[in-house]
Amino acid sequence: MDATRFSLADFFLGFNDDPLQPDEAFTEWREQTRWATTLFEPAMGHGPDAHTTLVGEDGEAHPVLNFASYNYLGLNKHPEVLAAAEQALRDYGTGSCGSPLLSGATDLHRRLEHKLAEFTGREAAMLFNSGFGGALGVLAGLLRKGDVALLDGRAHICLIDGVKLAGARPVLFDHDDPADLDKRLKEHVGARRVVLAEGIYSIHGDVAKLPELLDVCESNGVGMLVDEAHSVLTVGPTGRGAVELLGVSDRVGLYYATFSKAFASIGSFVAGDKEVIDYLRWYANSYAFSAALPASVVAGIDAALDVATRDDSLRNQLAENAACFRDGLHALGIDTGPSTTHVVPLMVGKGRRRLYEVGNKLREQGLFVSPFDYPSVPDDGLCFRACVSAAHTREDLDAALQIVKACW
Ligand SMILES: Cc1ncc(COP(=O)(O)O)c(C=O)c1O
Repeated sequence: MDATRFSLADFFLGFNDDPLQPDEAFTEWREQTRWATTLFEPAMGHGPDAHTTLVGEDGEAHPVLNFASYNYLGLNKHPEVLAAAEQALRDYGTGSCGSPLLSGATDLHRRLEHKLAEFTGREAAMLFNSGFGGALGVLAGLLRKGDVALLDGRAHICLIDGVKLAGARPVLFDHDDPADLDKRLKEHVGARRVVLAEGIYSIHGDVAKLPELLDVCESNGVGMLVDEAHSVLTVGPTGRGAVELLGVSDRVGLYYATFSKAFASIGSFVAGDKEVIDYLRWYANSYAFSAALPASVVAGIDAALDVATRDDSLRNQLAENAACFRDGLHALGIDTGPSTTHVVPLMVGKGRRRLYEVGNKLREQGLFVSPFDYPSVPDDGLCFRACVSAAHTREDLDAALQIVKACW
């Protein structure tokens, strides 16, 4: 059996009678593809710094240039962020020990919510302890059976799962295609509808055509939620994301973003009108029935927000690094898909074996990028994703390009 002919999609349903026993064929496939799948679930020895280590099966820490972390502004060890988190850790202790609805929130949580509302130009904001969980909570809280959510064809799986959890119907429109969105909205006239799009797409790094998509939403009388996970703090003159970059902030109903990317932390927030946020505090189950973020995490996020919005230096550095890296890849003849941002795919196309062979070589040579296989991406669109950071130096970018050149 050529194990590279199979992907995760082939084992999804499983064939065993007992759901607690995974399909034997899956286990066998995992064994046979271990040479390839060791690229997944790597363990870092130094956190998501530009230079980190990966701890191999031999227990040794191998140095790598890190282009796999979402630490876009390099804030994970910024002195002000660390100081704020450390202080809160000492003052408030390790855990929140309660749901935000009952007992888990602190004055730091409230202050951050107010700052995020102001930052996004909304009436109110609320925090979630997970990015994925925040999306699930928001969508399952707002939608119900019979509703239709029109999702961009490349929307993150947390948005799709949130719609499914609500019992609403997910309908995908062609990626970033206003005409297809219009067609599909019209196919579902009569249902309560909402449109879900992202600011910067998480694998291909393209900025959504939000103005044109919003024209369609408005002509159909339908609201939009934008997921700014990869765009918050990283784009827009003051870091308010794609909605600011494209001048459409006032036209978007709900603003959702995670703290796991440029904030270099964990969790998420959603911001919008006072009434909808108040409603969600009661109906987003992942908020009401899950412990609040620890105060130390909240304090770190708050400080990261201050650092990132104080001026545009980190954003400018990020944009400069990203352009330099993309240009370097193009000079090597590598297709970077539609990326115009710090999220840069290195397109492999079809061919799982090549993906993993090149992936292993890149790792061995000390470049840490993430492989993307079907079904996360189309079968003919396999790729690596490089996340550029403002913390990368020019030497880091050049060294990474040299490794790509040697391995491609
Ligand atoms: C676009 C997008 N939305 C939401 C999430 C979920 O965020 P988190 O990883 O913080 O749970 C991700 C994660 O990568 C993402 O890329």
